Amino acid sequence: MLDPWIAPSILSADFAKLGDEVRAVLEAGADLIHFDVMDNHYVPNLTIGPLVCEALRKAGIKAPIDVHLMVKPVDRIVPDFAKAGATWISFHPEATGHVDRTIGLIRESGCRPGLVLNPATPLNWLDHVLDKLDLVLLMSVNPGFGGQSFIPSVLPKIEAVRERILRSGRDVRLEVDGGIKTDNIGRIAAAGADTFVAGSAVFGSQDYRGTIAAMREQVAKARSADSAAIDYQGT
Ligand code: DX5
Ligand code: ZN
Repeated sequence: MLDPWIAPSILSADFAKLGDEVRAVLEAGADLIHFDVMDNHYVPNLTIGPLVCEALRKAGIKAPIDVHLMVKPVDRIVPDFAKAGATWISFHPEATGHVDRTIGLIRESGCRPGLVLNPATPLNWLDHVLDKLDLVLLMSVNPGFGGQSFIPSVLPKIEAVRERILRSGRDVRLEVDGGIKTDNIGRIAAAGADTFVAGSAVFGSQDYRGTIAAMREQVAKARSADSAAIDYQGT
């Protein structure tokens, strides 16, 4: 299992002081910055684009930036984000005409490709492309807004994707996005996620460091309970 990563979503940050907010969560222990791009077309909300990503890089942010594209179409904007300093770029399969081509475009642009599945989107989108992905992102809310509640029916879906990743033998990250808090992150980790997006839980708290540390602790607990169960079955 890959190291757990906590990815604060800047959707819930104070945009009037974005650079400071990003520096603050990184100093507080965040592993990567989740960057939600919404177009008021694929989703009913409008947020930020490549200029803001570039501005963060110009402001000296070196951490990986995890761009979550909620835009349709996808391909036109991919090279812009690559130039703007994105590290990972994920997109929704329904938002592009040719999923395999978009994955190739992200890779050729020098970024790491991810595919995002909404709560009701079936896993068979992964059938023919998992070997080309570095990340599967499972939405645990319907995309468009921060601060929604986690949809529990995503838990068995996380388990199913974890099995597929294990079978693939590749180091594909399994990220979950939406409604993650300190009190449910353990269950999400136990189901097999290794990368956790948290917007309102981190930026809505008074103590970024304390919240991220508490999340990490819950993930570690879930992982050690899991390995204890495996040891037990093995003896
Ligand atoms: C929703 C976004 C999420 C969102 C998560 O469309 O993709 O990244 O900001 O926010 P919380 O953690 O508040 O659910
Ligand atoms: Zn997101």
